[in-house]
Amino acid sequence: MSDKPQSGTTRRGFLAASTALVASATAARAQTADPLITEIQPWAQGLGDGVDATPYGLPIKYESDVVRRNVSWLTADVISSINFTPIHALDGTITPQGCAFERHHSGAIELRKDDYRLMINGLVDQPLVFTYADLERFPRVTRTFFLECAANTGMEWAGAQLNGSQFTHGMIHNMEYTGVTLRTLLEEAGVKPTATWLYVEGADASSNGRSLPMEKALDDCMIAFKANGEALRMEHGYPVRLIVPGWEGNLWIKWLRRIEATDAPVESREETSKYTDTMADGTSRKWTWVMDAKSVITSPSPQMPITHGHGPVVITGLAWSGRGAITGVDVSVDGGKNWKPARLAAPGQEMALTRFYFDHNWQGEEMLLQSRTTDSTGYVQPTKTQLREVRGVNSVYHNNCIQTWWVKPNGEAENVEVS
Ligand code: MTE
Ligand code: CO
Repeated sequence: MSDKPQSGTTRRGFLAASTALVASATAARAQTADPLITEIQPWAQGLGDGVDATPYGLPIKYESDVVRRNVSWLTADVISSINFTPIHALDGTITPQGCAFERHHSGAIELRKDDYRLMINGLVDQPLVFTYADLERFPRVTRTFFLECAANTGMEWAGAQLNGSQFTHGMIHNMEYTGVTLRTLLEEAGVKPTATWLYVEGADASSNGRSLPMEKALDDCMIAFKANGEALRMEHGYPVRLIVPGWEGNLWIKWLRRIEATDAPVESREETSKYTDTMADGTSRKWTWVMDAKSVITSPSPQMPITHGHGPVVITGLAWSGRGAITGVDVSVDGGKNWKPARLAAPGQEMALTRFYFDHNWQGEEMLLQSRTTDSTGYVQPTKTQLREVRGVNSVYHNNCIQTWWVKPNGEAENVEVS
């Protein structure tokens, strides 16, 4: 906990002493003559919807702005494109599937369970083809992981660009997956000791074929057919996708159709050139699969201005690491000069989103809001300057630097950089 009101000062005292705007808001809260309390409202004068009105419920219309959004100038079309999770408006850690970002190379496809097949071939004792029903009969696991596209925050390398955490950090989602471990299926096919790599591909036109080291495949990868308790949505790979915990999203093959065991990466069939990281010295590095520790304040932020006046404000955000669990998050209100620890809503889970809260008493001063996370390896999220020293400004992928929101006296926030 941090930034408690100074001793001897009560919350009521704070509110009474603040501006007229807040004083009236406080007075309204204190009085009991509020018609919303004293008068019978329309919704209490009749009956509501019956239980058959919405067999599958959607969010109430008042929440209609909490949706995925794309940025039209980012890609040439909406088929090979990306949209963004409205992380600014969500809380907790689980991303509802209906607003979890999508990234397709050739569009989202409709594939029936009955038409679903998964083949394992290559360096195996017995090439196998699994139906969906076959997969359901293997011992099952349920685990929660984040998926972050390597391009998340990729537009921010050269300068503060997009105004909103949805757009700067929304190529991420976090779901509870149910399925079978990849190890279980590989053992079923009898992977040969010479197989050190897998080539994994999807059933869509792009196939999104990728090479995956066997070590990772046997460690913690999953074949998932449920997310957050229900079937995967079409856009996330229905009926089956690959889960590669902590590693960049492009390896998480959707509509997974084939796994080939090989003794070398199959680069000729990949788009690896698209996933290299340009360094400050002009060289490139590849196979930087793991997503380093990163955090962002989701509110207040440009899409979530402070609208309630002075006094207590809940500063909140998300932290994650592909290398382990989040052990701490610090928050700065002055652009990184001073840091105080935030509260973690729950202890950090390996390779899953962690929610943090920082309870602050805001009196209308300008803030340069930042969050900085540390993971279980001891790694500390770098500043933008530190990251640029190594990576320059010509990269797209793996930008995990500290984000700054400038909160103005009127409560509005803007994406900025501090030196
Ligand atoms: N799998 C297939 N078959 N086709 C694709 O286009 N896109 C990849 C990956 N898996 C892709 C795919 C990329 S780049 C990312 S970031 C994630 O899927 C996005 O997953 P999502 O759409 O569930 O958010
Ligand atoms: Co991606």
